[in-house]
Amino acid sequence: MTDTDYQSDTLRDITPEPSEVRRVVVLISGSGSNLQALIDEQTHDRLGGEIVAVISNEPEAYGLQRARDAGIDAVVLPHREYESRDAYDGALIKVIERHEPDLIVLAGFMRILTPRFVQRYFGRMLNIHPSLLPAYQGLNTHARALADGVAEHGCSVHFVTEELDGGPVVVQAEVAVAADETEESLKAKVHAREHLIYPIAVKWFLEGRLKLEAEGATFDGMPLPPHGLRMSHADAAEELDEE
Ligand code: GRF
Repeated sequence: MTDTDYQSDTLRDITPEPSEVRRVVVLISGSGSNLQALIDEQTHDRLGGEIVAVISNEPEAYGLQRARDAGIDAVVLPHREYESRDAYDGALIKVIERHEPDLIVLAGFMRILTPRFVQRYFGRMLNIHPSLLPAYQGLNTHARALADGVAEHGCSVHFVTEELDGGPVVVQAEVAVAADETEESLKAKVHAREHLIYPIAVKWFLEGRLKLEAEGATFDGMPLPPHGLRMSHADAAEELDEE
């Protein structure tokens, strides 16, 4: 008897539990320290899925080596070889699709994405940004925060929409800006917080707890506040053993 011969109404009524591993593609352009944080969680079986490929537009990105060291497919797709943004994003979609991802994670991918690309992965693409969004969208966030003399800075994980750094925020972590803070010290503190919250957000998504719905981001079916869930400076500092 073959599988197809076998008939059972009872069995056909059963909806099997999704047993497939959820697949993640990470896009990078540089050092990939956030990628490393995700790899570390995966190594300990805590990511809720598997990073199946890392793609970089920069051939020299150190994150590619991190991927190779972890046995993850590392793909270089240099943007300079394409004549337009649209041509590049089209090629990128093709490469990504080969890996059949459930989630796209932008981890320092220094490219402005075309609307076509964003729409393709709408609701299943996350980014991390080094500020407490909506403050300091764009570049040089630490220098701008210091120049403004803010007491509080941080980082945000958000869904990607067509508005640059403007999609619904999922989770943020705060850092208190010290009196003697430099751009470098602030960057290091924010980075450490990024490595805390990004794996958590990715896991929530892969577990189906985090969604992008018509009214915005939801967690366990409840709408998230505009700034998402917040990790305070004190909680993050304790977690990171900061002084
Ligand atoms: C991080 O600061 C992230 O917030 C921004 O790009 C940087 C990437 O750093 N989007 P890394 O390559 O993960 O070390």
